[in-house]
Amino acid sequence: MTVVGNGVRVHPQGLCESEHVGPGTRVWAFAHVLPGARIGRDCNICDCAFVEDGAVLGDRVTVKNGTLVFAGVTCEDEVFLGPNVLFTNDLRPRAHLRKGPEELMPTTVRRGASLGAGVVVVCGTEIGEYAFAAAGAVVTRDVPAHAFVAGNPAEVKGWVCVCGHRLDEPLKCGECGTAFATAERGLRRLP
Ligand SMILES: CC(C)(COP(=O)(O)OP(=O)(O)OC[C@H]1O[C@@H](n2cnc3c(N)ncnc32)[C@H](O)[C@@H]1OP(=O)(O)O)[C@@H](O)C(=O)NCCC(=O)NCCS
Ligand SMILES: [Zn+2]
Repeated sequence: MTVVGNGVRVHPQGLCESEHVGPGTRVWAFAHVLPGARIGRDCNICDCAFVEDGAVLGDRVTVKNGTLVFAGVTCEDEVFLGPNVLFTNDLRPRAHLRKGPEELMPTTVRRGASLGAGVVVVCGTEIGEYAFAAAGAVVTRDVPAHAFVAGNPAEVKGWVCVCGHRLDEPLKCGECGTAFATAERGLRRLP
């Protein structure tokens, strides 16, 4: 890979037009990062991914192959976007109506959340911290923190730990021992 300014590594066939990309981030073949995209450090932008002007990615975000991150999408630190994840930013698109950025609807993916392969996210939604969307889920409304959602439309099927394992009652992870309490928007980790 070629190291460009600021310690960003870009595959010879990758296209990174943004100067707002943090050190250690890798942009692989046929991925395209537009000039107005903002990407943190140590991210991995895999083959054929697209990150548009106005999209914001935090640090240590994984964007797997073929995933499309459009303007208005914000992914916080350590979000995992599986292959072919599709974001949207226009709730009622019409080809003959051209809309400015102020008319697009934002979408936020909070810290540590994971979206499985082929997840579609309808714009205007917020996916909570460490939530987990199963492969093929269609997210049409907000997802609470630590929720496991699946299906079309995505429904809450259960809860997941920071480590990725499912939580059973009582709200303690059988894998890593982390304990949780119910919170206003999903679960919160107990100290
Ligand atoms: C979400 C996931 C981890 C669930 O695995 P699991 O914890 O073993 O879950 P289970 O098989 O016990 O399923 C729990 C329930 O969710 C449903 N479910 C699981 N995955 C589903 C999916 N992708 N779509 C719809 N429903 C799903 C199951 O049918 C089951 O429903 P039920 O309780 O009504 O019978 C897994 O299915 C998944 O999608 N992983 C993502 C893989 C991926 O995309 N990786 C990307 C990097 S390669
Ligand atoms: Zn755990």
